[in-house]
Amino acid sequence: MELLIDDANVAEIQRIYEFYPIDGVTTNPSILAKSGRPPFEVLKEIRSILGTEPQLHVQAVAGDAEGMIEDAHCIVKELPGNTFVKIPAVPEGFKAIKQLTKEGIRTTATAIYTPLQGFLAAKSGASYAAPYINRIDNMGYDGIAVARTIHDIFQQNGLPTKLLAASFKNSQQVLELCRYGVGASTVAPAVIDGMVNNAAIDSAIRVFEADFRELTGQDSMSKL
Ligand code: E4P
Repeated sequence: MELLIDDANVAEIQRIYEFYPIDGVTTNPSILAKSGRPPFEVLKEIRSILGTEPQLHVQAVAGDAEGMIEDAHCIVKELPGNTFVKIPAVPEGFKAIKQLTKEGIRTTATAIYTPLQGFLAAKSGASYAAPYINRIDNMGYDGIAVARTIHDIFQQNGLPTKLLAASFKNSQQVLELCRYGVGASTVAPAVIDGMVNNAAIDSAIRVFEADFRELTGQDSMSKL
């Protein structure tokens, strides 16, 4: 499972990218709004942190297919590299995804709440399809089950689209999809930190350090 950062806070992206095995960054208009900065200024900074190879997913904001296609052209021109254009999985979006696929522009279908949205996005040619795990849970449905069903639909129908699960609120949700072997998950920095935030882990490491210091008087093998 690929692991991406779902955020536009440049300092947080830099920190998470330095310490964790990260495949890219996803943003949406609400995430960009939180930064309070001009969108392309932030996105270019994120691209410069990542370099050209890791993925950067940026959302088109226009409401109709023609506008989404224009947004996509602008996004890939301004942000060269391994960039994906996020397009909502609605009829105007499917039309845009079909056209962009013909042009060789890679897309991530977003705002997915149901398996059939995922199916139609994949048939339209999307590279990734992003179901919103926690938002689905909050509607009283099972976000993990929806994501698994979409993953199964892709497998059973020989569709090359990958699942890009989004909207996580805890590490258990990430674990469930990792165990299922979905294509990718995009996760906010605090939830990524939560994946290894465990007092037992910290305590085990402190004991190893203390034992080594008692044995050698040193805190590093390189000082022996
Ligand atoms: C990613 O594609 C989504 O836009 C994002 O993960 C939604 O997350 P939220 O439900 O925490 O806003």
